Amino acid sequence: MFIAQAIRDDFPIFKRKVNGYPLIYFDNAATTQKPRQVIDAEQDFYENHNANVHRAVHTLSQEATELHEGARETIGKFIGAKEPAEVVFVRGTTEAINLVAYSWGLRNLKAGDEVLISLMEHHSNIVPWEIISRLTGFTIKYANVNSDGTLDYKDFEGKFTKNTKLACLSQVSNVSGVINDVKRVAKVAHEHGALMLVDGAQSVPHMSIDVRDLDADFLAFSGHKMLGPTGIGVLYGKKALLEKMAPFEGGGEMIKEVSYSPQSEGCGISWNAPPWKFEAGTPNIAGGVGLAAAIKYLQRLGMADVFQHEKELTEYAVKKLQNCCTKLALYGTTNPALKCGIIPFGVEGLSSHDVALFLDNYGIMVRSGFHCAQPLHQIFKLQSSARASFYIYNTKEEIDRFIEVLKEMEQF
Ligand SMILES: Cc1ncc(COP(=O)(O)O)c(C=O)c1O
Repeated sequence: MFIAQAIRDDFPIFKRKVNGYPLIYFDNAATTQKPRQVIDAEQDFYENHNANVHRAVHTLSQEATELHEGARETIGKFIGAKEPAEVVFVRGTTEAINLVAYSWGLRNLKAGDEVLISLMEHHSNIVPWEIISRLTGFTIKYANVNSDGTLDYKDFEGKFTKNTKLACLSQVSNVSGVINDVKRVAKVAHEHGALMLVDGAQSVPHMSIDVRDLDADFLAFSGHKMLGPTGIGVLYGKKALLEKMAPFEGGGEMIKEVSYSPQSEGCGISWNAPPWKFEAGTPNIAGGVGLAAAIKYLQRLGMADVFQHEKELTEYAVKKLQNCCTKLALYGTTNPALKCGIIPFGVEGLSSHDVALFLDNYGIMVRSGFHCAQPLHQIFKLQSSARASFYIYNTKEEIDRFIEVLKEMEQF
C-alpha cells in the first residue's frame, strides 16, 4: 500500500500555501492535481517530439504519432478494452456522451423509442439526451433514486420495456459518491436488447475498471479527474458499435477519401475506420501523452490500493464528521460499503458557498453548489451542498485539520 504523505512530493502544487495555510485540496471530484511525471511528459512532448500526427513522413511526426497511438494503447489496456481502436480521444466525459448522443442517438432513436436515465446523473448525461429527444421525438424515462442517494434498482430495472434502446448510468455519483452496480444494470439492459452507457467520470480514476467484465457498450471518462491534463478524455465503445456509427464532426483525419465529381458537382466521402472516424482535426496530442503518464502513475500505485486508500479516508472522515458539530449534516448514505471518497454536507444556517469560503480562508478547498446534478439535489430536498472529495494524496491529518476548522466555523 502506498503512503499518501510520501507521494505528495510528486505534486508541485502542494508546496504552495493558500491564505497563509498549507493547501488542503478536497475538490478532487471536480478535478485532480497533477504529479511532476504528468507535467514532465507533456513538457517533454513539446520540447522534443512536437509535430502533427498521422500526416507526415518526417521523424518528428513519426515520433508524435507513436506517442499518440501509444497513449491510446495504454488507456485501452487500463480499462480492459479488446483493442486500442475502441478508445476514442475526446475532450472529456461531456464530449464523449455528446458524441454518442449525436452519432448514435440522433441516427438511431425515433418516436416510440425509450432511453432510461437515472436521476442521479450529472447534467452531461441528461442534457445531450434531452436535446436529441427534442429532435427525434424519443421518450426519456427517469429512474428514481432513494432518499439516501442510492439507486432504486427496482424502479430502474422495472422501467425497461421492449422499446428501451439505451440505459445511461454513472458508475459513481459525483454528488454522493454512491457506487452503482452498472454490471447488473448492463445485464438487464442487454436482456431487453438495449445498450448500456456508463458515465465513468467518477469511477475510472478511483477503481479498477474492466469494460468487458462490466459489459458496457460505452464508457465515458475525463483525464483531468485522474491526474491527467484538462481537455483530454475518452469514449470507449465496443468496436462493432463504433463501426456502425456515423461520424460526430467532419474534417481532416476522420475521412478515408474525399473525391470531387465535376459531373455531380459534389464530393463523395468515405469515412476512416474507428476510432479516427470520430477524431476530426488535430487531436490533443500532448494531452493524450499526459493522460498515459497519469495512468502509468496510477498503475504504479495499484488501483486496488487507490480504492482502499480512499475508502479508509472516507470511513475516517465520516466517523469524525458525524460527531464533530451539531449543526453539520451529511447528505446521502454514509455506509462505507456503498460509496467511495465523496462526502456531501451542509451546515445549518449557512449556504454551501459560505461554508466553502470559510474553509478557503484556512487553505481548505471544497466544492459548493449543485455540482451539475440538480435533479439529485431535488431528491435530497436541497438547493446546494458542500462537497469534500478525496484522492491519493489526501491524508488523515488533513481530515483532522478540516474537522478543526469546521468546529471553528460552528463557534463563529
Ligand atoms: C459523473 C460526472 N459525469 C460527467 C462529468 C463531466 O466531466 P467533464 O466536465 O470532464 O466533461 C463530471 C464532472 O464533474 C462528472 O462528475
